[in-house]
Amino acid sequence: MAKTKATTGTAALAARIQRLREAIRHHDHRYYVLNQPEIADAEYDRLLRELGALEAKAPHLITPDSPTQRVGGVSDEAFKPVRHAVPMLSLENAFNEEEFAAWHERVRKGLGGREPTYTVEPKIDGVSLALAYERGVLVRAATRGDGTTGEDVTGNAKTIRAIPLRLRGEAPRRLEVRGEVFMALAAFRRYNERAAREGGETFANPRNAASGSLRQKDPAVTAARPLRFWTHSVGVIEGKTPGTQWEFFTACRAWGLPVQADSVQCGTFDELRRQYRRIEGLRDRLDYEVDGVVVKVNELPLRARLGMTHRSPRWAIAYKFAAHQATTRVVGVDHSVGRTGVITPVAKLEPVACAGVTISSATLHNYDEVKRLGIKIGDRVLIQRAGDVIPQVVKVIESSRTGAERGIRPPTTCPDCGGRVVREKEADVAYRCISPSCPTQAVRSVLHFVSRGAMDIEGLGDVLVEQLVAKRLVRDVADIFRLAERDLLQLDLVAEKKAHKLLTAISASRNRGLARVLFGLGIRHVGEKAAQVLAEHFGSMAALAKAGPAALEEVPDVGPVMAESLAAYFKQPATREVLRRLEAAGVRMTERIAQGPKPLAGQRFVFTGGLSAMARDEAEHLVRQLGGNTSSSVSKETTYVVAGEAPGSKIEKAKQLGVRILDESAFKKLIGQ
Ligand code: IVH
Repeated sequence: MAKTKATTGTAALAARIQRLREAIRHHDHRYYVLNQPEIADAEYDRLLRELGALEAKAPHLITPDSPTQRVGGVSDEAFKPVRHAVPMLSLENAFNEEEFAAWHERVRKGLGGREPTYTVEPKIDGVSLALAYERGVLVRAATRGDGTTGEDVTGNAKTIRAIPLRLRGEAPRRLEVRGEVFMALAAFRRYNERAAREGGETFANPRNAASGSLRQKDPAVTAARPLRFWTHSVGVIEGKTPGTQWEFFTACRAWGLPVQADSVQCGTFDELRRQYRRIEGLRDRLDYEVDGVVVKVNELPLRARLGMTHRSPRWAIAYKFAAHQATTRVVGVDHSVGRTGVITPVAKLEPVACAGVTISSATLHNYDEVKRLGIKIGDRVLIQRAGDVIPQVVKVIESSRTGAERGIRPPTTCPDCGGRVVREKEADVAYRCISPSCPTQAVRSVLHFVSRGAMDIEGLGDVLVEQLVAKRLVRDVADIFRLAERDLLQLDLVAEKKAHKLLTAISASRNRGLARVLFGLGIRHVGEKAAQVLAEHFGSMAALAKAGPAALEEVPDVGPVMAESLAAYFKQPATREVLRRLEAAGVRMTERIAQGPKPLAGQRFVFTGGLSAMARDEAEHLVRQLGGNTSSSVSKETTYVVAGEAPGSKIEKAKQLGVRILDESAFKKLIGQ
């Protein structure tokens, strides 16, 4: 009887898991393939969480194609060479109608007068990716590489929600499709803004963002990047083969592979031209970068007759849009200080009309780009606008030089505050003002300092901080603690009641402790967790400020990049001044260092799921106090995975790698509770 009941329970659990997976796949499909979401993100997350919880109860039911398995750990397979079963070719380009007409004519001739039909597809400026499915399950994703051999990026590709882990309907035995991974323009801008705010890596354009994101070692990093995918061609297909590109697209839709909705099939040359113009007309309205159209012969048997040249097929061509370009003269250079102190050279131009707007400046991105372009003040240059991205300098017209041009050098002091400018490491192309009292950076750094994860001063939002900085009441974070009621009453929208509230909040924040102050200072590469680890290790700001790079690198989780960033920060006289004033204002900059034995020294813990007796960060704190280390992803270096209530996919990863799994009570025993 009991056995029957247990069996029924298991069967019910399996059925529920199955239903949840189907529901999640259905919503992924609505969102990414049909572009018609049916539910809100929160509701989707709830389904995913429920599935995670149930799979944790029955780990033997976890399958690699489950939606919970998108973000795995760092894998040994990552970036291993993958030989493509069929080479990934590149395309011949046509830059004008004449070249396109010549291609069209060659195709007709090649087919001996048989009129093919064509597809016209937007050419997305991203990174090409090959996806291999076996019996409908995604088994490998590889980059193009040199066309013959690419790199295995399966772990990263699986995090892209537009890529189905399992195909819908009747899938071929073996299928390899190719497509483009890209970042939409709005997502790209949001990503860059956030990265700039948090001192992370920013990208020059969406293409670099997509390729950089796909080449991350840790899939969790890729998962946090808003990447998308569109299928554009077939590599290998075993089973029922489509007769045309259009049938292939129809099949892709049925398999749940996303296909671009702006693609069309058409016949005559005139129609091809019309479609080219139609898509060109969409260009500035699309939320992704399109640099032309790809025109392909639709019928696959006719493609076979046309064959290929040494590197590209004769049956397809990339018909590029005219770049929005113009020539003008560089009249000067601004060195513009961003909110994180990064200094960007901006070319001041003689105003010139380009694609319907007047352009008078163009970003030079960074000083390496200045060197690469060899650009000088006084030069005649070719500029271009791509999509609605900021104008760029394409090249210098060297034949127009007179000899009176002047070179462009990175500034050695900050143009806004006179502070020291550093280039933090060789590989980093950014020059940065690291003075904590630079006014341009003040608003940004104060907002970070008062934010929730740092000093958590409620009520001090951007409107007030901007006014405080503009009125010179606050120049750096230490000034916050000198604010008096009369200062606050000078601000718009602040009356007595609000002023009192703010002063109380400021006062209360004095006691947040070293970790929060340290994070709040916004030191490059020092995030919330690193701040905590450093605070617990050194115990006081004074001790930390004195530590050299070698002592810093002894701290678990502190690598050379962070150590160097900390050392450079504390070397600044302005830093010492701010710290002195924070201390004088009564801001606590100490943390209790755990004394006593370190029984967990050398051991690395990963937590998954919720613990009942304590919060996750408390548990992590305890581990560190006992000399252990914590990390967010499972690898071969992990000693234990602690599984609480409703653990995630880390369990499966731990099993794969043979890492020991502890439940909460075993964990408590281990830490002596
Ligand atoms: S078909 C042999 N279709 O452009 C044909 N490619 O310059 C293979 N691309 O490597 C490609 N949009 O990464 C095709 N609709 C589209 C495309 C497209 C973008 C990329 C692709 C390819 C590159 C060729």
